Amino acid sequence: MFYSNKQYGIILSKKKKEANLAKYLIEPINKLRGEITVSGAKNGVLPIMAATLLSTEPCIIHDVPSLKDVSVMVEIIRVLGAKVERKGSDMRVEVDEIKRTEAPYEYVSQMRSSFDVMGPLLTRTGVARVPLPGGCAIGERPIDLHIKGFKALGATVEIGHGFVEARAEKLVGASIYLDFPSVGATKNIMMAATMAEGVTTIENAAKEPEVVDLAIFLNKMGAKISGSGTDTIRITGVEKLTGCEHTVLPDRIEAGTFLIMGAMHDSDLLVKNVVPSHLKPVIAKLIECGVDITEEGDDLRVVSSGKLKAVDITTLPYPGFPTDLQAPFMALLSKVNGNSTIMETIFENRFAHVSELNRMGAKIKIEGHSALIQGIENLQSADVKATDLRAGAALILAALSAEGATTVHDIYHIDRGYNKLEEKLGNLGIHITRIIE
Ligand code: EPZ
Repeated sequence: MFYSNKQYGIILSKKKKEANLAKYLIEPINKLRGEITVSGAKNGVLPIMAATLLSTEPCIIHDVPSLKDVSVMVEIIRVLGAKVERKGSDMRVEVDEIKRTEAPYEYVSQMRSSFDVMGPLLTRTGVARVPLPGGCAIGERPIDLHIKGFKALGATVEIGHGFVEARAEKLVGASIYLDFPSVGATKNIMMAATMAEGVTTIENAAKEPEVVDLAIFLNKMGAKISGSGTDTIRITGVEKLTGCEHTVLPDRIEAGTFLIMGAMHDSDLLVKNVVPSHLKPVIAKLIECGVDITEEGDDLRVVSSGKLKAVDITTLPYPGFPTDLQAPFMALLSKVNGNSTIMETIFENRFAHVSELNRMGAKIKIEGHSALIQGIENLQSADVKATDLRAGAALILAALSAEGATTVHDIYHIDRGYNKLEEKLGNLGIHITRIIE
């Protein structure tokens, strides 16, 4: 069923108004026992959905999380011509014809990773027109590396009237060195190169597990990609790609958030459906804090007294400590014994949660790209605001160990990236209530 843009707009704004008014009321807990299951990865499924645009044949994707960002990506690929069917956490996408090569502003403006459709559109149709993603709460987030890559593959790229437009009769393989191992640029160039003429190499490529999972998906479609997960990815172009079936990798950031939650309390918590190797830097820091983490197959058990030691953290590209867990870990470090430092090296403006945590009595100072955290005994309940997805998660963790019930506002940020959160936490006996005024 295809809707006109006007109809889209109306549906969206009504839902958006409601979502924007929602807040969480969260009661503190004093201990945590039980198990919690991790869903498919937000940052894994979004590029995979964009990659379905590469083939005329149907793709079946399993373990698709029900997230706001996934719904937005569904609308974007639908506008471009995809037929999308969803059943529970399964999704079937068929793009037998690209109907439009311009992605709609009203959706792209809501979610940066919609820019992932650029590479697939360009290599399949020779034209791609996508609104400039623009910055967000955590930083300016330029796309210069994506554009450099498309130009190296022989495309002309123009930016004007708020759009990026790339054109190429036929993309031709090239060797591309990325100034920074950007996840987004690596994914977009890799997808564009799948049907380029000849061989492309991406050097200083991003090594994130979501990049590897995308390469696995593309190879199932008949692409010829090797070296994903290393800093040199090699793509030999093919004529056309087929459909395929794939299960999205587990969400390591959701898993890390739950491990940190467990660590902050007197707990014995089993976090299920995890790839432990994806969380090595996080597990190492938690163990340094004095937490006990053990692997049980595809699960991780976290056992903690909740009384933790201070540690220092520097965020880095994978396999370094993930910037997406910087805020949740800061909530933990705000109530440990001793002083910690967190250095954020990926995004220039990812400390908006500091002032909100300080509203809960935390003692955190920002100096340049570092946050200096003086550990305290207890956090206090307060009215706080989620400023972005991971900042929101940090406030939920802080609320669970505060004195009194906390209200977290603007939870629409959290809806973007945590699947069925209330249900999952509720099953652990946590009192978290969504209030819509
Ligand atoms: C992905 O964003 C994730 N988003 C982010 O997760 C994550 O924080 C980030 O990778 C780093 O791990 C998705 O996968 C949807 P980048 P992305 O390109 O691809 C600079 C979350 O919370 N840069 O690796 O946008 C950029 O400004 C989100 O789930 C350029 O300078 O990240 C940033 O400072 C937040 N030029 C750094 O590189 C470019 O052309 C990392 O960006 C591209 C990036």
